[in-house]
Amino acid sequence: MKTLANIFLGFFIFEGIVAAPTIDTLTYDSDLYGIILGESDNLFDHIENEQSAQAETEVGTILPFVTQDSYSSAPLTEEPEEEASTPKLIDGSSPLGSGVLGPQTHDGLPTCLLCTCLGTTVYCDDHELDAIPPLPKKTTYFYSRYNRIKKINKNDFANLNNLKRIDLTENFISEIDEDAFRRLPQLQELVLRDNRIRQLPELPVTLTFIDISNNRLGRKGIRTEAFKDMIDLQHLYITDNNLDHIPLPLPESLQALHLQNNNIQEMHEDTFCKMKDITYVRRALEDIRLDGNPINLSKTPHAYMCLPRLPIGSLS
Ligand SMILES: *[C@@H]1O[C@H](CO)[C@@H](O)[C@H](O)[C@H]1NC(C)=O
Repeated sequence: MKTLANIFLGFFIFEGIVAAPTIDTLTYDSDLYGIILGESDNLFDHIENEQSAQAETEVGTILPFVTQDSYSSAPLTEEPEEEASTPKLIDGSSPLGSGVLGPQTHDGLPTCLLCTCLGTTVYCDDHELDAIPPLPKKTTYFYSRYNRIKKINKNDFANLNNLKRIDLTENFISEIDEDAFRRLPQLQELVLRDNRIRQLPELPVTLTFIDISNNRLGRKGIRTEAFKDMIDLQHLYITDNNLDHIPLPLPESLQALHLQNNNIQEMHEDTFCKMKDITYVRRALEDIRLDGNPINLSKTPHAYMCLPRLPIGSLS
């Protein structure tokens, strides 16, 4: 996925350069940035809406295109002015600074120079960051994978009312302030996998996708009824966490529950179904993974009656 993102970024930046009106603007100035931001808006939204599988097939079509272009279009062609005049820039106005490149980071660099901003998406993957950089107010998607972030503070995402996805895969996060995510009104996808998190903070009920696999939640890392009110939650991935129980209750909307490689030893007949209501059907939940747990699924034969499919796990 990292490579995929790089390929896309490379493509956009290349396109920006080719589309630049004169050779003079090839320097790393705000004109060029404006063109990159403006141009990529639609393309990027497009990518965001594709499933990764589809996105991958697109790499196939884009890749040869890039290589071909980089040889054939050596003399830069003049482009009409319109692109330069209608860039859709991120609103960088914030208490920490302003300008088209977003707020200033602590190193004095605007976030959109340190990272890459495409439309309202901010990419900070693989930048050796040890904290979340200040984000432009209209940020919708934020990626900061493969960094060295240790802590998420309560103000890191404050007032980012458009934020829909946070992806902090593979950092060193061990601590998250209780308020860090709670007040994000549009947050749908939260990816915190491959960190060192011991305690999951309170989460917004708007979430549809949670991946907190490969952390250190253990016995107490998930509060009781943590997911109960998430009426749109579809994917819940908590593999490799040394969990000793299935977090209940599970919302009706849930489609996939991945709990493999934990320490779950038992389940109740009411975990998924309702023993008092034999007509109850939990239609959505088609994908339950319990393999890699010390649990014998054969001991609770009635626990799966309402499910469209049996959970995957040890039956003997
Ligand atoms: C799993 O449970 C079934 C049903 O109670 C039992 O027959 C089987 O021996 C158990 N397997 C193990 C490995 O405990």
